[in-house]
Amino acid sequence: MTYRKKLIEVALPLDTINKESAREKSIRHGHPSTLHLWWARRPLAACRAVLFASLVDDPSNDLPEEEAKVERDRLFGILEDLVKWENSNDENVLGRAQAEIMRSTGNNPPPVLDPFCGGGSIPLEAQRLGLEAHGSDLNPVAVLITKALIEIPPKFAGKPPVNPESRGKIGNEGNWRGARGLAEDVRYYGKWMRDEAEKRIGHLYPKGPNGETVIAWLWARTVRCPNPACSAAMPLVSSFWLSKKTAKKAWVEPVVDREKKEVRFTVMTGEGAPRDGTVNRQGATCLVCDTTVPFSHVRAEGRAKHMEQKLMAVVAEDERGRKYITPTEQHVVFANKAKPSWRPEAELYGKAAVNVPLYGLTTFADLFTNRQLVALDTFSDLVSEARKEVYKDA
Ligand SMILES: C[S@@+](CC[C@H](N)C(=O)[O-])C[C@H]1O[C@@H](n2cnc3c(N)ncnc32)[C@H](O)[C@@H]1O
Ligand SMILES: [Zn+2]
Repeated sequence: MTYRKKLIEVALPLDTINKESAREKSIRHGHPSTLHLWWARRPLAACRAVLFASLVDDPSNDLPEEEAKVERDRLFGILEDLVKWENSNDENVLGRAQAEIMRSTGNNPPPVLDPFCGGGSIPLEAQRLGLEAHGSDLNPVAVLITKALIEIPPKFAGKPPVNPESRGKIGNEGNWRGARGLAEDVRYYGKWMRDEAEKRIGHLYPKGPNGETVIAWLWARTVRCPNPACSAAMPLVSSFWLSKKTAKKAWVEPVVDREKKEVRFTVMTGEGAPRDGTVNRQGATCLVCDTTVPFSHVRAEGRAKHMEQKLMAVVAEDERGRKYITPTEQHVVFANKAKPSWRPEAELYGKAAVNVPLYGLTTFADLFTNRQLVALDTFSDLVSEARKEVYKDA
């Protein structure tokens, strides 16, 4: 058999693929591929394009260059439709692409294997193109995400949802093609989990001053200053910048009370820039008395369990976007209310145990704040409770 060049070896409509890949980032919100973060997840548009172009023959195998160019443009047209987000489930567009794949592979396309499948984008897109898809990964989290993305939905293909709300609606017998029924259930039980979590732990999450939703609390770790005349809490901050975006500059200004030997934080916006951070390659500097300490002091403080935290800024979001707010005492009080009933006390190991144990953080629980532990605990309880709910309803 003579070797036949594939389209990907000759040319690709890269401008369109790049544009659609970049666009996808801002519109895929809520799509199953965002179920869980994965590092270096590839844009679905790029995966789809690569699969198509790796399977479809380049026309130069059979045609003189002039005619091949015309035919290649036709294939590019299919590919350019294929990579548009809006066409992800368009049966006509997918059908045209599948027909080309079939034509180039003698109606017997090879199975696709991605041995490093990460978040599963390549097997997902292979499945979309009607190909047999396989994936593996060294990391069990990646395997779980990929299973949820490509292995579980086909098991429920065509089935109606089981949740009482959808069942109660007239026409539930209707059209549950593909994963639509499953998607209804994921939305319903996902919302159920969210609402339950809000009932159980919502009181630990105060709003911003104008009712904004807080999306992060930024804490600085502190150690005691070794200067006996000072012994202030030294915030360890590598940079006081919050946002360097031109129209949205924001930073934290430490306000030092030398009498009380205390540091408060104020959020600043507009023109200007923060002072240097308190930590550099040499060690840390006390904002109250300017004493510098080596890392050995910071580590010893950590190991002696003297490390504490101070709230530096509150990050909130409303319709107009993200904003940074000076912390109030109320936000600290709420954070301190969180008391986890369970802590992951297992010792850190592997890469996690390389650096942080030098600072006295030795267990997984040490890596989280109490409020984060309460939230993780609540959500992991809710996963098994949701399972029971599903069984009850099904
Ligand atoms: C860049 S990511 C893949 C991203 C994926 N294409 C996506 O779009 O989500 C590379 C993956 O290779 C995995 N990996 C690294 N070494 C591996 C090995 N020896 N065997 C299997 N998987 C490995 C990593 O765990 C990681 O998930
Ligand atoms: Zn000091």
